[in-house]
Amino acid sequence: MSVSSPVETTSFVTAESTGDWWRDAVVYQIYPRSFADANGDGEGDLAGVIGKLDYLRKLGVDAIWLSPFYPSPLADGGYDVADYRAVDPRFGTMAQFDELVAHAHDAGINIIIDIVPNHTSDQHEWFQKALQAAPGSPERTRYVFQRGKGEHAELPPTNWLSNFGGSAWQPCGDGWYYLHTFAKEQPDLNWDNPEVREEFLDILRFWCDKGVDGFRIDVSHGLAKDLREPLRDRPDPTKMYPQAADGSDPMWDRDAVHDIYRGWRELFNECQPAKYAVGESWTPFSDRVFQYARQDELGAIFDFSLEKAVWNRDEYRHTVERTRRYAIEAGTAPTWVLGNHDVPRIASRLGVPSGTDIEAWVTSDGTEPVIDPAAAARRARAAALIMLGLPGTAFVYQGEELGLPEDFDLRPEELQDPIWERGRHTFKGRDGCRVPLPWTGDRETAYGFSGSGKSWLPQPAWFADYAACLQSDDVNSSLNMYRKAIDLRRCMVRCGDDAALEWLDPDLCGDDGFGWKLPSGMMVLANFSAVHALTLPSEVKMLLCSRADDDHNADSHQVPPESTVWYICR
Ligand code: GLC
Repeated sequence: MSVSSPVETTSFVTAESTGDWWRDAVVYQIYPRSFADANGDGEGDLAGVIGKLDYLRKLGVDAIWLSPFYPSPLADGGYDVADYRAVDPRFGTMAQFDELVAHAHDAGINIIIDIVPNHTSDQHEWFQKALQAAPGSPERTRYVFQRGKGEHAELPPTNWLSNFGGSAWQPCGDGWYYLHTFAKEQPDLNWDNPEVREEFLDILRFWCDKGVDGFRIDVSHGLAKDLREPLRDRPDPTKMYPQAADGSDPMWDRDAVHDIYRGWRELFNECQPAKYAVGESWTPFSDRVFQYARQDELGAIFDFSLEKAVWNRDEYRHTVERTRRYAIEAGTAPTWVLGNHDVPRIASRLGVPSGTDIEAWVTSDGTEPVIDPAAAARRARAAALIMLGLPGTAFVYQGEELGLPEDFDLRPEELQDPIWERGRHTFKGRDGCRVPLPWTGDRETAYGFSGSGKSWLPQPAWFADYAACLQSDDVNSSLNMYRKAIDLRRCMVRCGDDAALEWLDPDLCGDDGFGWKLPSGMMVLANFSAVHALTLPSEVKMLLCSRADDDHNADSHQVPPESTVWYICR
């Protein structure tokens, strides 16, 4: 089989040589509220996670990332933290958290927790004190309070908008406003204040001592606002990310934010082994995204371009090449993401006609996205084998392994995402990817989610078809494809000391395919054509095919339409 010459010769240090377990890891994201409910209150909890560790061990994941489980009024699903050093009683106890860490470690699974440093909950003790304190007081300077504009301070201080809709400034009633980049229940902290910096170092130390292995940093590009007086308007406040790649936006991705992470890295490196950290930084400029991953900073950063890519060969190939190039230049591992708790599920997203923006799904006029469910399912499986066939850190969002589609059936009165209200009922928001998981086909137990049958978001009847226990017995299921892929990945995709991969000869890939050869000798070939199969040479052995259904068995030499195959030369 012919293979084109390597286009990348750079290699980066890998797990085996550094003990950096995360570099080629599969990280499974758990949104605790929707994962498994052990106490029957209809909301998932830590005991529920403990009960599913065996499932996660069989799936083969290296780590779990837990979305917030801290005490919270849940104005934004827990990303509004009222106490950073405790567990919300709805999610369990600190003893259960300790138990989870110990059991996960016994199962060979690392624990990554979510840190939310851009804002607290409005119920946080600091913010409650700030509201009662006078303008200019030390209590208020932990947050961003500003006097309003206009004769009677009736106008917000700047044109800054909340990510969830409306002004980012909430009036306090005394002529002063506080900043909230997200919901009004999420006041922004003032990171120019040394007390805030100290507090977060202390919070991180607390969780390091608890034995967690790493941190996911929420909104990591938002902390360092330009608070020099007078505050500046943003050129286009409707854009929720910086417009220029020069750090000049007063809200987003400012150069000063990197100082914060250099301090954090020092702390992480004091631990043995050093703690992992991955940031969530939304900026359209890849070189700036990867600055957060510098070795003296967080060390890793989410790259969301795969999750955003439309189903098209050139876009996927370009995305994969670009992510690898930037990651390698920054000395970090590429990160691969197909979904998370903020975006419509991949098994629906990939079924929309090209040109449809599924995230901007407008409901006010009743319009819903047109989705081809069979195509979406096929493509989601093919995308999974692309992601899992790439060296780097792969993030799997709970339910993705089941091929679970987005739930578009939620009625307006059932929605809980603050985007629905703040956006004046324009966008349905993110609840459709947060519906509690189906574990069994039993409706009486909320499809195995809760013995009580309760579920904080209603589950549609079709969830039964995706139940984990049914898929477990079906060799061709999405779950079993993920299990096989993660297992094979361990020896075939993890690259030892050399992460360089070679792109496959374009002649082999046809007009709609692309692929690569790994140092292990395994090849990955993705076929984006909806109609044509690709034919592999006879001397190859197929290891895995995303369309191993009745029409396409894994022993053939065909790469079926809209599929990805993993194979080796005999
Ligand atoms: C991040 C989280 C999202 C949350 C927001 C505010 O983007 O992923 O769920 O709403 O930050 O904390």
